[in-house]
Amino acid sequence: MFSKKIACIGAGYVGGPTMAVIALKCPEYKVQVVDINADRIKAWQSDRLPIYEPGLDEVVRKARGRNLFFSSDIDAAIRESDIIFVSVNTPTKTFGEGAGRAADLQYWEKVARQILRASDSPKIVIEKSTLPVKTARTMEQILNANGKVRFEVISNPEFLAEGTAITDLLHPDRVLVGSRETPEGLRAREEVVDIYANWVPRERILTSNVWSAELSKLAANAFLAQRISSINSISALCEKTDADVSEVATAIGMDSRIGARFLNASVGFGGSCFKKDILNLVYISESYGLEEVARYWESVLDINEYQKARFVRTMIHEMFNTIVAKRIALFGFAFKADTSDTRESPAIHVARKLLEERAQLAVTDPKALANARVDLAGLEGVDFLEDPYEAARGAHAVAVMTEWEMYRGLDWEKIYESMEKPAFLFDGRNLLDHARLHRIGFNVYPLGKPALKHF
Ligand code: UDX
Ligand code: ADP
Repeated sequence: MFSKKIACIGAGYVGGPTMAVIALKCPEYKVQVVDINADRIKAWQSDRLPIYEPGLDEVVRKARGRNLFFSSDIDAAIRESDIIFVSVNTPTKTFGEGAGRAADLQYWEKVARQILRASDSPKIVIEKSTLPVKTARTMEQILNANGKVRFEVISNPEFLAEGTAITDLLHPDRVLVGSRETPEGLRAREEVVDIYANWVPRERILTSNVWSAELSKLAANAFLAQRISSINSISALCEKTDADVSEVATAIGMDSRIGARFLNASVGFGGSCFKKDILNLVYISESYGLEEVARYWESVLDINEYQKARFVRTMIHEMFNTIVAKRIALFGFAFKADTSDTRESPAIHVARKLLEERAQLAVTDPKALANARVDLAGLEGVDFLEDPYEAARGAHAVAVMTEWEMYRGLDWEKIYESMEKPAFLFDGRNLLDHARLHRIGFNVYPLGKPALKHF
């Protein structure tokens, strides 16, 4: 009764929302999402989804049980489906050749072998996770090794950002489908294009060769990260002069050649993609002997590390060069607002550094506390609190790590009253109304703008 059967291996921040939207928009397809992590699958089947993403609950509620299914039976889903999305994580290698930079492809290869083992009919295999350029070729080699059934490997990188995943999926700037340019490759490409054409205007669906598709994903993330590092480098300069980084960002962003978005100075970018993908780009460049290209992209990461370190240095310096036993409240732990994800969150770095200086931390976050507990497991001197008012009570400083909208609306007078004096506020996201906080009594340290102090 279903016109197409689709499986997705990997039920994470990318696989889950993407398949939920495909199922929502294509009720005539059967969409099965599988994962080796049985707890994650149970959560997807329940009312408490394993990830927080605005709008996701509603989409899942509409499609689940109708044509969207979550299961741990990976082999059955593979066997039954004609199209298999692979959306497993591809962490950076921690060992051997390319450690710390190259992608660790062992999970991907395992999946390829599992697909091969479980398949008894031809399949289209789609790379959804970001992978190093030329991974599709390796996959083809593994999949077509014994000639039992024919596999076409397609690269269809996902450009959604966490926190806006559902809108990004429903109204993508573009969808990219890369394939081999053989007759079979082009046929497979059309099949994948047809899925998205159910709701995405044709002119927004781009097709390319498979290598261009793979490289476009790495390059897009590298360009986005580069914008943040560029504005963050300017924020450091602003702090030394009388310039204000927000004013500078507005002025340069109005140049239509530059554009206004992604110019918010911050304590640093985080997330599962930017660092990993740039490291990948660096590694690939090096392996082709392109040293200068490698150094160029590496510098985007250098500025990010610098920005995090600089933020902590300012905190220590301004709090009279010692934070031993001082309580510091970290407002937000997610790598950005509207997600429960803390992967590569700048808050992790900041928390660790403050603990090394023997501060006492009170971490609060509306959605990411469970992940924060895991990230800081085994470290002494950290409390985790749901309530930001409780986190700030008795603290010498509040440091804003994540731009949660709710922090703007807090009763900052009440927070100020409950804190030790002098009370410090370090705004790692330029989120709050600094002049008002200063009037209340805080010593305020925005990013890339003059500090507002009382001494
Ligand atoms: C990113 C890409 O945007 C997305 O297209 C890709 O598919 C995956 O990687 P994501 O990591 O979910 O998405 O979030 P993004 O919104 O890009 O933010 C990344 C980091 O940059 C966050 O830590 C965010 O707070 C930070 N950021 C973003 C800034 O510091 N300043 C900005 O102006 C924008
Ligand atoms: P992303 O942000 O890229 O979606 P996640 O880590 O959130 O990354 O999701 C990746 C998912 O892939 C995890 O839920 C993990 O359990 C799953 N996974 C990893 N390896 C395999 C595998 N061999 N088979 C099935 N699922 C896997």
